[in-house]
Amino acid sequence: MTLPKTPKSPALIQLLRWIFTPMSFMEECYKRYGDIFRLQLSREIVIVSNPQALGQILAGDTKDFEAPGDLNSLFEHSLGKKSLIMLSGASHQRQRQLMMPSFHGERIRNYGDTIANITKQIMSQWEIGKPFCVRSSTQTITMRTIVEAVFGVYEGDRAQKLEQLFSEMLERTSSPLTVAMLYFPALRNIFGSLNPWQQFLRIRREIDDILYQEIRECRENPDPSRTDVLSLLVAARDEAGQPMTDEELRDELMTLLFAGHETTATALAWALYWIHKIPTVREKLLEELDSLGENPDYTTIFKLPYLNAVYCETLRIYPVGILTFPRRAKVPLSLAGYDIQPGAVLMGSIYLTHRREDIYPEPEKFKPERFLERQYSPYEFLPFGGGARRCIGFAFAQFEMKIALVEILSRLELELIDNGEVQSKRRGLVSAPNRSIQMVVKGERKMKSRTLEAVSG
Ligand code: HEM
Repeated sequence: MTLPKTPKSPALIQLLRWIFTPMSFMEECYKRYGDIFRLQLSREIVIVSNPQALGQILAGDTKDFEAPGDLNSLFEHSLGKKSLIMLSGASHQRQRQLMMPSFHGERIRNYGDTIANITKQIMSQWEIGKPFCVRSSTQTITMRTIVEAVFGVYEGDRAQKLEQLFSEMLERTSSPLTVAMLYFPALRNIFGSLNPWQQFLRIRREIDDILYQEIRECRENPDPSRTDVLSLLVAARDEAGQPMTDEELRDELMTLLFAGHETTATALAWALYWIHKIPTVREKLLEELDSLGENPDYTTIFKLPYLNAVYCETLRIYPVGILTFPRRAKVPLSLAGYDIQPGAVLMGSIYLTHRREDIYPEPEKFKPERFLERQYSPYEFLPFGGGARRCIGFAFAQFEMKIALVEILSRLELELIDNGEVQSKRRGLVSAPNRSIQMVVKGERKMKSRTLEAVSG
C-alpha cells in the first residue's frame, strides 16, 4: 500500500507550525513530498494540491467523498451548531438551496447601487494627503454590504453597534494565539477576563442579543415584499411545514455576516495593493474603464476582461481561503497513485495549487495577463473551493469587488504610502496581508467614462 508521505517531526511540532505559519509549512512539505502529503494535526489530514486529484475529491462530493459538517468544529464557537458550515448531507443541501438564491443571478444585480453608494460613503471619509488603512476601509464596505443583503436597509444605532462588535470580534479572533485556543482548550482560561477567548465570548453574547432582536422583530412583522435574507429564511418551511427555529436563524445569520465580509474585505484590500504597486496594471485598468461607453451597467462592468483578470490574479496569488473545508473518503480509492482509506480526511490546498510553477509560471509574480492568455480548469483555479461546499457567496463577492474597484479607481488618484513587499499570513482561519497597507489620496481623477456619474447623481 502506498500512503502519501508525512513529515517525521512530532505531531505537536506539526500542529504548531500549522497554527503559526501554515503557508510556509505547506510549501516546505510540497517541495519535499509532492502535491499529496499527510500532516499530523489534531487528526491526520491529507493535503492535496494535485488538480486531477482535487477534481476527483470535489466533483465526487457525493459518491466517493462526503463533506461532513462535524469536521468543521473549529467554526462552531463563532457560528453555532446549526450553521450551514456545520450541517451535513441532506440537511446541508436543503439549507444551501434556501440560502444560495440570495447571492446569485438577478438578485445580486440589485445590490449594485448599494455597493456603489457604500463605497462612496467610505471614500468620502478619506482626506487628501492623509494616510488611511486600506483594510479597515474595505472591511467597512463589505460589512455594510452584507448587512444590507441580510437585513435589508439597515441604519441607526443597532447597525453601528453591530459593525463595531464585528470588527472587535475579528480583531480578537485573528491572532494565531486565538487559533491555538481552538486547538488547545486549556489555554482559554488563563489570564482570566483579559484572555482573548473570554473577550470573544463577551462580544459574541452582545452580537447574539442584536441578532435575536432582529429575528424577533422580523417574525412579528412579516412583510412578503421584503427580499432580504432574514425575511426569506423566516418565511421558509421544511417538508413537514416547520419554520426554522430562532437558534437556526441566528446561526445562519452569523455565518453569512462572518463568511460574507472578512474574506471579501481582504481580497479587495489586496486588489488595491497590487493595482497601485504595479503602475502598468493600474494604467491598463484605467484604459479599460475609460473606454466604457455612456452609462455602462453593472453587467458590463462585471464582464470587463482586464478587470476580471486583475480580480482573478488577486485571488490566485494570495487566496484568502487557503484551504477547502475537509472532505472524508467513503470508500477505499486511489488518488494520483496513492492509496486512500475509507475515513481518511482530506483538504484541498488552494494556496499550493495556485502557486504551482507548472500551471502558473513565476507564481510569485502578479501577472493578470495569465488569465487573458489561458483558461484554467476549476481545479487549477479554485479560490472558492468546489463541489458540495463551494462558496455560496462567490458571485456576490466577485460583483462586490469589481463594483467597489471601479468606483474607487474611476474617482480617485491613490498611492501606496510604502511600496515595499507585503506577504500573506494566517489571520484567524483565513489569510490576510502580514502588515497594514496604508494608502493616501493624491487627488480626484478626471473621469473619461460616465460610469459612476449616474451613481453619484
Ligand atoms: C473573496 C471572498 C470569498 C472567498 C475567497 C471565499 C472562499 C470560500 C471557500 C474557500 C470556501 C470553502 C469551499 C469548499 O470547501 O469547497 C467557502 C465557503 C463558504 N463561503 Fe465563501 N468566500 C468568499 C466570500 C463569501 C461571501 C461573500 C459569502 C456570503 C455571502 C460566503 C459564504 C460562504 C459560506 C456560507 C460557505 C460554506 C458553504 C457550505 O458549507 O456549503 N463567502 N468560501
